[in-house]
Amino acid sequence: MGEGVLTVPGGQDTGFVPDPVLLLEDAGLSRHDGALLDGGVSLARVAGDFGTPAYVYNADVIRRQFRELDEALAAVPHRICYAVKANSNLGVLRVLRDLGAGADIVSEGEMARALAAGFSSDRIVFSGVGKREDELRAAIAAGIGHVNVESMAELEVLARLAEDAKTPVPLGIRVNPDVTAETHPYISTGKRGIKFGIPLDQVRPAAAMIRKHPGLELVAIAMHIGSQLTDTQPFAEGAGRLVELVDAVRADGTTTLRELDVGGGLGIRYLDEQPMSPRAYAAALVPVVKPTGLTLYLEPGRFLVGASGVLLTRVLFRKHSGGKEFVIVDAGMNDLERPSRYQAYHGIIPVEQRAGAPLVADVVGPVCETGDFFALDRDLAPMEPGDLVAILCAGAYGFVMASNYNTRPLPPEVILDGGRAWLSRPRQAVAELFRSERVTSEDR
Ligand SMILES: Cc1ncc(COP(=O)(O)O)c(C=O)c1O
Repeated sequence: MGEGVLTVPGGQDTGFVPDPVLLLEDAGLSRHDGALLDGGVSLARVAGDFGTPAYVYNADVIRRQFRELDEALAAVPHRICYAVKANSNLGVLRVLRDLGAGADIVSEGEMARALAAGFSSDRIVFSGVGKREDELRAAIAAGIGHVNVESMAELEVLARLAEDAKTPVPLGIRVNPDVTAETHPYISTGKRGIKFGIPLDQVRPAAAMIRKHPGLELVAIAMHIGSQLTDTQPFAEGAGRLVELVDAVRADGTTTLRELDVGGGLGIRYLDEQPMSPRAYAAALVPVVKPTGLTLYLEPGRFLVGASGVLLTRVLFRKHSGGKEFVIVDAGMNDLERPSRYQAYHGIIPVEQRAGAPLVADVVGPVCETGDFFALDRDLAPMEPGDLVAILCAGAYGFVMASNYNTRPLPPEVILDGGRAWLSRPRQAVAELFRSERVTSEDR
Protein backbone atom coordinates (compact mmCIF):
# COMPACT_ATOMS: atom_id res chain seq x y z
CA MET A 1 0.00 0.00 0.00
CA GLY A 2 0.99 3.59 -0.21
CA GLU A 3 1.47 5.76 2.77
CA GLY A 4 2.12 9.24 3.82
CA VAL A 5 2.66 11.59 6.62
CA LEU A 6 0.52 14.41 7.80
CA THR A 7 3.00 16.28 9.92
CA VAL A 8 1.73 19.76 9.27
CA PRO A 9 -1.94 20.75 9.11
CA GLY A 10 -2.77 20.55 5.44
CA GLY A 11 0.65 19.05 4.93
CA GLN A 12 2.00 22.43 4.05
CA ASP A 13 3.56 25.47 5.50
CA THR A 14 3.50 26.96 8.91
CA GLY A 15 6.40 29.37 8.72
CA PHE A 16 8.54 26.53 10.02
CA VAL A 17 11.69 26.14 7.97
CA PRO A 18 12.98 22.57 8.09
CA ASP A 19 16.51 22.13 9.26
CA PRO A 20 18.30 21.94 5.92
CA VAL A 21 21.40 20.47 7.52
CA LEU A 22 19.59 17.42 8.88
CA LEU A 23 17.51 16.90 5.75
CA LEU A 24 20.57 17.14 3.50
CA GLU A 25 22.55 14.80 5.73
CA ASP A 26 19.75 12.21 5.79
CA ALA A 27 19.62 12.30 2.00
CA GLY A 28 23.39 12.12 1.38
CA LEU A 29 23.30 15.62 -0.16
CA SER A 30 25.86 18.37 0.21
CA ARG A 31 26.55 21.83 -1.25
CA HIS A 32 29.72 22.70 -3.07
CA ASP A 33 30.03 26.33 -4.24
CA GLY A 34 26.24 26.55 -4.11
CA ALA A 35 25.73 23.45 -6.29
CA LEU A 36 23.91 20.43 -4.92
CA LEU A 37 25.82 17.16 -4.87
CA ASP A 38 24.21 13.78 -4.24
CA GLY A 39 26.66 11.10 -3.17
CA GLY A 40 29.35 13.41 -4.56
CA VAL A 41 27.65 13.61 -7.99
CA SER A 42 26.41 16.93 -9.36
CA LEU A 43 22.63 16.84 -9.68
CA ALA A 44 22.83 19.48 -12.41
CA ARG A 45 24.95 17.03 -14.37
CA VAL A 46 22.49 14.20 -13.73
CA ALA A 47 19.68 16.41 -15.05
CA GLY A 48 21.82 17.30 -18.06
CA ASP A 49 22.47 13.64 -18.84
CA PHE A 50 19.03 12.17 -18.15
CA GLY A 51 16.61 15.10 -18.36
CA THR A 52 13.78 16.05 -16.02
CA PRO A 53 11.68 14.98 -14.27
CA ALA A 54 13.90 12.16 -13.02
CA TYR A 55 14.12 10.01 -9.92
CA VAL A 56 17.63 9.75 -8.48
CA TYR A 57 18.57 7.23 -5.75
CA ASN A 58 21.74 7.30 -3.66
CA ALA A 59 22.89 3.70 -3.06
CA ASP A 60 25.10 4.66 -0.11
CA VAL A 61 22.15 6.12 1.78
CA ILE A 62 20.31 2.81 1.37
CA ARG A 63 23.39 0.95 2.65
CA ARG A 64 23.70 3.30 5.63
CA GLN A 65 20.07 2.77 6.59
CA PHE A 66 20.27 -1.00 6.26
CA ARG A 67 23.46 -1.29 8.28
CA GLU A 68 22.18 0.94 11.08
CA LEU A 69 19.14 -1.25 11.50
CA ASP A 70 21.03 -4.49 11.10
CA GLU A 71 23.64 -3.50 13.69
CA ALA A 72 21.02 -2.28 16.16
CA LEU A 73 19.40 -5.73 16.09
CA ALA A 74 22.62 -7.69 16.54
CA ALA A 75 21.44 -9.08 19.90
CA VAL A 76 18.80 -11.32 18.29
CA PRO A 77 18.73 -13.53 15.22
CA HIS A 78 16.89 -11.42 12.64
CA ARG A 79 16.15 -10.95 8.97
CA ILE A 80 15.36 -7.62 7.35
CA CYS A 81 12.89 -8.31 4.55
CA TYR A 82 12.76 -5.15 2.46
CA ALA A 83 9.18 -4.13 1.56
CA VAL A 84 9.45 -4.09 -2.20
CA LYS A 85 6.35 -1.92 -2.55
CA ALA A 86 8.27 1.12 -1.29
CA ASN A 87 10.59 1.15 -4.31
CA SER A 88 10.72 -1.84 -6.62
CA ASN A 89 13.44 -0.61 -8.96
CA LEU A 90 15.70 -3.56 -9.81
CA GLY A 91 18.90 -1.63 -9.11
CA VAL A 92 17.61 -0.64 -5.67
CA LEU A 93 16.57 -4.25 -5.02
CA ARG A 94 20.03 -5.47 -5.98
CA VAL A 95 21.68 -3.08 -3.52
CA LEU A 96 19.50 -4.49 -0.75
CA ARG A 97 19.97 -8.09 -1.78
CA ASP A 98 23.73 -7.60 -1.72
CA LEU A 99 23.43 -6.34 1.86
CA GLY A 100 21.79 -9.62 2.86
CA ALA A 101 18.17 -8.45 2.94
CA GLY A 102 15.19 -10.67 2.27
CA ALA A 103 12.12 -9.28 0.52
CA ASP A 104 8.51 -8.64 1.53
CA ILE A 105 6.16 -8.72 -1.46
CA VAL A 106 2.44 -8.19 -2.02
CA SER A 107 1.91 -9.43 -5.58
CA GLU A 108 3.19 -11.89 -8.13
CA GLY A 109 4.68 -8.90 -9.94
CA GLU A 110 6.73 -7.94 -6.89
CA MET A 111 7.85 -11.55 -6.53
CA ALA A 112 9.00 -11.54 -10.16
CA ARG A 113 10.95 -8.34 -9.54
CA ALA A 114 12.56 -9.70 -6.37
CA LEU A 115 13.57 -12.90 -8.17
CA ALA A 116 14.87 -10.91 -11.16
CA ALA A 117 17.02 -8.86 -8.79
CA GLY A 118 18.52 -12.04 -7.36
CA PHE A 119 16.66 -12.61 -4.07
CA SER A 120 16.39 -16.27 -3.26
CA SER A 121 12.76 -17.36 -2.96
CA ASP A 122 13.15 -18.77 0.54
CA ARG A 123 13.99 -15.24 1.72
CA ILE A 124 10.76 -13.82 0.41
CA VAL A 125 7.66 -13.17 2.54
CA PHE A 126 4.31 -12.83 0.75
CA SER A 127 2.01 -10.32 2.50
CA GLY A 128 -1.28 -8.79 1.43
CA VAL A 129 -4.95 -8.91 2.22
CA GLY A 130 -6.18 -9.92 -1.24
CA LYS A 131 -3.91 -12.50 -2.85
CA ARG A 132 -5.33 -14.24 -5.92
CA GLU A 133 -5.24 -18.02 -6.16
CA ASP A 134 -2.89 -17.93 -9.16
CA GLU A 135 -0.52 -15.68 -7.19
CA LEU A 136 -0.53 -18.07 -4.23
CA ARG A 137 0.08 -21.01 -6.57
CA ALA A 138 3.03 -19.19 -8.16
CA ALA A 139 4.49 -18.33 -4.75
CA ILE A 140 4.22 -21.94 -3.56
CA ALA A 141 5.75 -23.20 -6.80
CA ALA A 142 8.65 -20.75 -6.39
CA GLY A 143 9.39 -22.03 -2.86
CA ILE A 144 8.40 -18.86 -1.00
CA GLY A 145 9.85 -18.31 2.51
CA HIS A 146 6.40 -17.90 4.01
CA VAL A 147 2.96 -16.58 3.12
CA ASN A 148 1.43 -14.24 5.69
CA VAL A 149 -2.23 -15.26 5.76
CA GLU A 150 -4.68 -12.42 6.39
CA SER A 151 -8.07 -14.17 6.67
CA MET A 152 -9.69 -17.52 7.39
CA ALA A 153 -10.99 -17.47 3.80
CA GLU A 154 -7.44 -17.16 2.45
CA LEU A 155 -6.38 -19.99 4.75
CA GLU A 156 -9.06 -22.22 3.21
CA VAL A 157 -7.72 -21.47 -0.27
CA LEU A 158 -4.20 -22.28 0.89
CA ALA A 159 -5.40 -25.52 2.48
CA ARG A 160 -6.85 -26.55 -0.88
CA LEU A 161 -3.71 -25.55 -2.81
CA ALA A 162 -1.52 -27.41 -0.31
CA GLU A 163 -3.25 -30.72 -1.05
CA ASP A 164 -0.86 -31.17 -4.00
CA ALA A 165 2.21 -29.59 -2.37
CA LYS A 166 5.21 -31.90 -2.08
CA THR A 167 6.49 -30.18 1.06
CA PRO A 168 4.36 -28.33 3.63
CA VAL A 169 3.60 -24.73 2.65
CA PRO A 170 5.15 -22.37 5.25
CA LEU A 171 2.63 -19.89 6.60
CA GLY A 172 2.59 -16.91 8.90
CA ILE A 173 -0.57 -15.62 10.52
CA ARG A 174 -0.75 -11.86 10.14
CA VAL A 175 -2.53 -10.72 13.22
CA ASN A 176 -4.46 -7.50 13.64
CA PRO A 177 -3.08 -6.72 17.12
CA ASP A 178 -5.49 -3.82 17.68
CA VAL A 179 -2.92 -1.20 18.55
CA THR A 180 -3.17 2.50 17.82
CA ALA A 181 -0.29 3.97 15.88
CA GLU A 182 -0.03 7.72 15.33
CA THR A 183 0.11 8.26 11.58
CA HIS A 184 -2.04 9.24 8.61
CA PRO A 185 -5.31 7.24 8.84
CA TYR A 186 -4.76 5.74 5.37
CA ILE A 187 -1.62 3.99 6.61
CA SER A 188 -2.61 2.93 10.09
CA THR A 189 -3.00 -0.81 9.60
CA GLY A 190 -3.01 -2.51 13.00
CA LYS A 191 -6.27 -1.31 14.51
CA ARG A 192 -9.47 -3.26 15.00
CA GLY A 193 -12.05 -2.61 12.29
CA ILE A 194 -9.69 -2.11 9.36
CA LYS A 195 -9.19 -4.64 6.58
CA PHE A 196 -5.77 -5.98 7.57
CA GLY A 197 -4.83 -9.08 9.52
CA ILE A 198 -6.64 -11.85 11.37
CA PRO A 199 -8.41 -10.62 14.51
CA LEU A 200 -6.92 -11.70 17.82
CA ASP A 201 -9.76 -14.12 18.65
CA GLN A 202 -9.36 -16.02 15.34
CA VAL A 203 -5.63 -16.68 15.64
CA ARG A 204 -5.81 -19.84 17.74
CA PRO A 205 -8.52 -21.42 15.53
CA ALA A 206 -6.41 -20.56 12.47
CA ALA A 207 -3.33 -22.15 14.07
CA ALA A 208 -5.41 -25.24 14.96
CA MET A 209 -6.55 -25.59 11.36
CA ILE A 210 -2.95 -25.36 10.14
CA ARG A 211 -1.80 -27.95 12.70
CA LYS A 212 -4.35 -30.44 11.41
CA HIS A 213 -3.39 -30.02 7.76
CA PRO A 214 -0.39 -32.11 6.65
CA GLY A 215 0.31 -29.73 3.74
CA LEU A 216 0.58 -26.60 5.90
CA GLU A 217 3.11 -25.50 8.47
CA LEU A 218 2.80 -22.48 10.78
CA VAL A 219 6.22 -20.84 10.89
CA ALA A 220 5.46 -17.21 11.80
CA ILE A 221 3.21 -14.94 13.78
CA ALA A 222 3.19 -11.54 12.12
CA MET A 223 1.87 -7.98 12.22
CA HIS A 224 2.25 -4.74 10.31
CA ILE A 225 0.72 -1.91 12.29
CA GLY A 226 1.25 1.08 10.03
CA SER A 227 3.69 3.23 8.15
CA GLN A 228 5.71 6.35 8.98
CA LEU A 229 5.61 5.58 12.71
CA THR A 230 7.94 7.67 14.82
CA ASP A 231 7.33 6.18 18.25
CA THR A 232 8.50 2.80 19.59
CA GLN A 233 5.53 2.26 21.90
CA PRO A 234 3.06 0.71 19.39
CA PHE A 235 5.77 -1.69 18.19
CA ALA A 236 6.46 -2.88 21.72
CA GLU A 237 2.73 -3.16 22.44
CA GLY A 238 2.01 -5.04 19.20
CA ALA A 239 5.01 -7.35 19.63
CA GLY A 240 3.84 -8.08 23.18
CA ARG A 241 0.48 -9.23 21.78
CA LEU A 242 2.25 -11.41 19.22
CA VAL A 243 4.31 -13.03 21.97
CA GLU A 244 1.15 -13.83 23.96
CA LEU A 245 -0.20 -15.52 20.84
CA VAL A 246 3.05 -17.43 20.34
CA ASP A 247 2.71 -18.76 23.89
CA ALA A 248 -0.95 -19.63 23.33
CA VAL A 249 -0.51 -21.51 20.05
CA ARG A 250 2.53 -23.32 21.42
CA ALA A 251 0.47 -24.38 24.45
CA ASP A 252 -2.19 -25.62 22.00
CA GLY A 253 0.38 -27.87 20.33
CA THR A 254 2.08 -25.89 17.55
CA THR A 255 5.77 -26.83 17.44
CA THR A 256 6.80 -25.38 14.09
CA LEU A 257 7.16 -21.64 14.79
CA ARG A 258 10.45 -20.12 13.65
CA GLU A 259 9.79 -16.42 13.17
CA LEU A 260 8.18 -13.42 14.79
CA ASP A 261 7.43 -10.88 12.07
CA VAL A 262 6.85 -7.32 13.29
CA GLY A 263 6.30 -5.81 9.83
CA GLY A 264 7.57 -2.45 8.63
CA GLY A 265 6.61 1.07 9.55
CA LEU A 266 9.74 2.83 10.79
CA GLY A 267 9.35 6.49 9.97
CA ILE A 268 11.78 9.00 8.50
CA ARG A 269 12.25 12.78 8.70
CA TYR A 270 10.35 14.63 5.96
CA LEU A 271 10.19 17.91 7.88
CA ASP A 272 10.55 18.18 11.65
CA GLU A 273 9.70 14.63 12.72
CA GLN A 274 11.89 13.02 15.34
CA PRO A 275 11.74 9.43 14.15
CA MET A 276 12.82 6.69 16.53
CA SER A 277 16.41 5.62 16.03
CA PRO A 278 17.13 2.01 15.06
CA ARG A 279 18.69 1.63 18.52
CA ALA A 280 15.53 2.80 20.26
CA TYR A 281 13.46 0.53 18.02
CA ALA A 282 15.70 -2.43 18.87
CA ALA A 283 15.65 -1.56 22.58
CA ALA A 284 11.83 -1.69 22.51
CA LEU A 285 11.60 -4.97 20.60
CA VAL A 286 14.52 -7.13 21.63
CA PRO A 287 13.50 -7.73 25.28
CA VAL A 288 9.99 -8.66 24.14
CA VAL A 289 11.04 -10.98 21.33
CA LYS A 290 14.20 -12.62 22.70
CA PRO A 291 12.54 -14.96 25.24
CA THR A 292 10.54 -16.61 22.42
CA GLY A 293 13.75 -17.89 20.79
CA LEU A 294 12.23 -16.97 17.40
CA THR A 295 14.01 -15.15 14.59
CA LEU A 296 12.87 -11.54 14.40
CA TYR A 297 11.59 -10.65 10.94
CA LEU A 298 11.09 -7.03 9.86
CA GLU A 299 9.56 -5.62 6.70
CA PRO A 300 10.81 -2.03 6.48
CA GLY A 301 10.35 -0.11 3.25
CA ARG A 302 10.35 3.64 3.72
CA PHE A 303 13.12 3.59 6.35
CA LEU A 304 15.54 1.89 3.95
CA VAL A 305 14.90 3.90 0.79
CA GLY A 306 12.86 7.03 1.58
CA ALA A 307 15.67 9.50 2.21
CA SER A 308 17.81 8.03 -0.57
CA GLY A 309 15.70 9.48 -3.37
CA VAL A 310 15.13 12.89 -4.90
CA LEU A 311 12.78 13.83 -7.69
CA LEU A 312 14.64 16.24 -9.93
CA THR A 313 12.43 18.70 -11.73
CA ARG A 314 12.82 21.95 -13.65
CA VAL A 315 10.94 25.20 -13.14
CA LEU A 316 8.93 25.91 -16.30
CA PHE A 317 7.22 29.15 -15.33
CA ARG A 318 6.42 31.51 -12.52
CA LYS A 319 3.01 33.04 -12.39
CA HIS A 320 1.14 35.46 -10.16
CA SER A 321 -2.59 34.84 -10.02
CA GLY A 322 -5.39 35.67 -7.60
CA GLY A 323 -2.98 37.18 -5.12
CA LYS A 324 -0.84 34.05 -5.08
CA GLU A 325 2.56 33.16 -6.46
CA PHE A 326 2.99 29.88 -8.36
CA VAL A 327 6.11 27.99 -9.34
CA ILE A 328 5.17 25.61 -12.15
CA VAL A 329 7.55 22.66 -12.53
CA ASP A 330 7.81 19.87 -15.09
CA ALA A 331 7.04 17.04 -12.60
CA GLY A 332 3.43 16.39 -11.71
CA MET A 333 1.24 14.54 -9.24
CA ASN A 334 1.42 11.59 -11.61
CA ASP A 335 5.19 11.38 -10.88
CA LEU A 336 4.98 11.89 -7.09
CA GLU A 337 1.55 11.48 -5.64
CA ARG A 338 2.23 11.80 -1.92
CA PRO A 339 1.63 15.56 -1.53
CA SER A 340 -1.76 15.45 -3.22
CA ARG A 341 -2.86 12.05 -1.87
CA TYR A 342 -1.74 12.42 1.75
CA GLN A 343 -0.97 16.15 1.98
CA ALA A 344 2.56 14.96 2.70
CA TYR A 345 5.40 17.41 3.11
CA HIS A 346 8.50 17.10 0.91
CA GLY A 347 11.39 19.55 1.13
CA ILE A 348 11.95 21.49 -2.12
CA ILE A 349 15.36 23.05 -2.67
CA PRO A 350 17.20 24.57 -5.61
CA VAL A 351 19.92 22.49 -7.22
CA GLU A 352 21.97 25.62 -7.85
CA GLN A 353 21.60 28.45 -5.38
CA ARG A 354 20.94 31.83 -6.94
CA ALA A 355 20.83 35.36 -5.61
CA GLY A 356 17.44 37.00 -5.29
CA ALA A 357 14.47 37.29 -3.03
CA PRO A 358 13.06 34.25 -1.27
CA LEU A 359 9.42 33.66 -2.06
CA VAL A 360 6.24 32.18 -0.70
CA ALA A 361 4.55 30.13 -3.41
CA ASP A 362 2.61 27.06 -4.41
CA VAL A 363 4.81 24.59 -6.27
CA VAL A 364 2.57 22.93 -8.83
CA GLY A 365 2.84 20.56 -11.77
CA PRO A 366 1.39 20.49 -15.28
CA VAL A 367 -1.43 18.00 -14.59
CA CYS A 368 -4.97 19.20 -15.08
CA GLU A 369 -6.04 19.01 -11.44
CA THR A 370 -5.97 21.69 -8.76
CA GLY A 371 -4.70 18.89 -6.52
CA ASP A 372 -1.53 18.69 -8.59
CA PHE A 373 0.82 20.35 -6.13
CA PHE A 374 4.05 19.61 -4.30
CA ALA A 375 3.76 22.49 -1.81
CA LEU A 376 1.23 25.13 -0.86
CA ASP A 377 2.18 28.57 0.47
CA ARG A 378 5.72 27.30 0.93
CA ASP A 379 8.68 29.46 1.99
CA LEU A 380 11.13 28.84 -0.84
CA ALA A 381 14.63 29.85 -1.79
CA PRO A 382 14.79 32.08 -4.89
CA MET A 383 13.92 30.13 -8.05
CA GLU A 384 13.28 31.21 -11.62
CA PRO A 385 12.20 29.52 -14.86
CA GLY A 386 14.89 27.15 -16.09
CA ASP A 387 16.17 26.40 -12.58
CA LEU A 388 16.46 22.84 -11.37
CA VAL A 389 14.93 21.89 -8.06
CA ALA A 390 15.17 18.74 -5.97
CA ILE A 391 12.13 17.34 -4.19
CA LEU A 392 13.53 15.52 -1.18
CA CYS A 393 12.68 12.19 0.46
CA ALA A 394 11.17 10.80 -2.72
CA GLY A 395 12.80 7.36 -2.57
CA ALA A 396 9.81 5.56 -1.01
CA TYR A 397 6.31 5.43 -2.45
CA GLY A 398 7.40 7.78 -5.22
CA PHE A 399 8.05 6.15 -8.58
CA VAL A 400 6.10 3.03 -7.57
CA MET A 401 2.92 5.09 -7.29
CA ALA A 402 3.56 7.08 -10.47
CA SER A 403 1.05 6.82 -13.28
CA ASN A 404 0.63 7.79 -16.90
CA TYR A 405 -2.20 10.22 -16.09
CA ASN A 406 -2.45 12.93 -18.75
CA THR A 407 -0.51 10.49 -21.00
CA ARG A 408 2.70 11.52 -19.33
CA PRO A 409 5.58 9.04 -19.65
CA LEU A 410 7.08 7.66 -16.44
CA PRO A 411 10.31 9.41 -15.47
CA PRO A 412 13.69 7.65 -15.59
CA GLU A 413 15.30 6.13 -12.49
CA VAL A 414 18.97 6.90 -11.98
CA ILE A 415 21.22 5.30 -9.36
CA LEU A 416 24.22 7.07 -7.84
CA ASP A 417 26.89 4.73 -6.62
CA GLY A 418 30.63 5.12 -6.12
CA GLY A 419 30.56 8.71 -7.40
CA ARG A 420 28.92 7.63 -10.67
CA ALA A 421 25.38 7.93 -12.06
CA TRP A 422 23.85 5.07 -13.99
CA LEU A 423 20.48 4.73 -15.65
CA SER A 424 18.54 1.83 -14.18
CA ARG A 425 15.31 2.56 -15.99
CA PRO A 426 15.03 4.88 -18.99
CA ARG A 427 12.32 7.46 -19.41
CA GLN A 428 9.24 5.92 -21.00
CA ALA A 429 8.71 6.91 -24.62
CA VAL A 430 5.30 8.36 -25.53
CA ALA A 431 4.88 5.66 -28.20
CA GLU A 432 5.25 2.96 -25.52
CA LEU A 433 2.19 4.29 -23.75
CA PHE A 434 -0.26 3.13 -26.40
CA ARG A 435 1.71 0.62 -28.44
CA SER A 436 -0.52 -2.30 -27.43
CA GLU A 437 -3.83 -0.42 -27.79
CA ARG A 438 -6.07 -0.91 -30.81
CA VAL A 439 -7.99 1.93 -32.43
CA THR A 440 -10.83 -0.32 -33.63
CA SER A 441 -11.80 -3.99 -33.21
CA GLU A 442 -10.43 -4.68 -36.72
CA ASP A 443 -7.02 -3.28 -35.82
CA ARG A 444 -4.13 -5.78 -35.68
C1 LIG B 1 2.63 -5.85 5.14
C2 LIG B 1 3.53 -4.66 5.00
N1 LIG B 1 4.81 -4.78 5.38
C3 LIG B 1 5.67 -3.74 5.26
C4 LIG B 1 5.25 -2.52 4.77
C5 LIG B 1 6.25 -1.42 4.64
O1 LIG B 1 5.95 -0.32 5.39
P1 LIG B 1 7.01 0.84 5.57
O2 LIG B 1 7.39 1.31 4.22
O3 LIG B 1 6.29 1.86 6.34
O4 LIG B 1 8.17 0.28 6.33
C6 LIG B 1 3.91 -2.34 4.38
C7 LIG B 1 3.46 -1.04 3.88
O5 LIG B 1 2.37 -0.81 3.51
C8 LIG B 1 3.03 -3.46 4.49
O6 LIG B 1 1.75 -3.35 4.12
